[in-house]
Amino acid sequence: MSTGYPTPVYSHAGRGDFRDVYEPAEDSFLLIDALEKDADRLQLMSPCVCLEVGSGSGVVSAFLASVVGPSALYLCTDVNPAAAQCTAKTASCNNVSLQPIITSLVGSTGIEAAWAGGKRGREVTDRLLPVVAQLLSSKGLFYLITIAENNPEEIICSLGKCGLRGESCLSTRAGNERLSVLRFQRT
Ligand SMILES: C[S@@+](CC[C@H](N)C(=O)[O-])C[C@H]1O[C@@H](n2cnc3c(N)ncnc32)[C@H](O)[C@@H]1O
Repeated sequence: MSTGYPTPVYSHAGRGDFRDVYEPAEDSFLLIDALEKDADRLQLMSPCVCLEVGSGSGVVSAFLASVVGPSALYLCTDVNPAAAQCTAKTASCNNVSLQPIITSLVGSTGIEAAWAGGKRGREVTDRLLPVVAQLLSSKGLFYLITIAENNPEEIICSLGKCGLRGESCLSTRAGNERLSVLRFQRT
């Protein structure tokens, strides 16, 4: 049983040079909790490439890198150049290797495990979902953080039609929002 991975250092996010970078919040920590819950499974799976879409501070990828280890390549995309710099700083602060990429969504990457976060409705998610079904490796896992207004059941149903089976693996309430982490794998 794998337990007790520390939360990565991220105190530079949201201030100074990184003031325009999303500061880790309840959604980030719920995703981290979901990855920690799946730590044994992720280690057994031993992915070669992990991708975070919208890495912000990079705290989630830094956490995953501490769980899975240095054999994987960690690609972290974000449209915000400051987020890419912040992700690089988070990597060095936590002695892990992350590869920030300034691009929208996934650019042209191939992925084995991926996760995405965001509180901005379905606009970005709806552009990402068709690409995930094409790129996820045969044993890969895709984690998606949602709020109730995103209609997670509809997302599960729609990805089901693309051959990905999904379920809610962790939920919490943050203020008025119901946050859930959905996890998908190929059927
Ligand atoms: C709510 S933050 C989450 C950051 C991080 N995943 C976390 O959990 O702390 C969403 C991030 O997605 C980025 N983003 C927004 N649209 C994007 C897009 N089309 N492609 C890549 N990143 C995007 C934002 O710049 C922001 O850093």
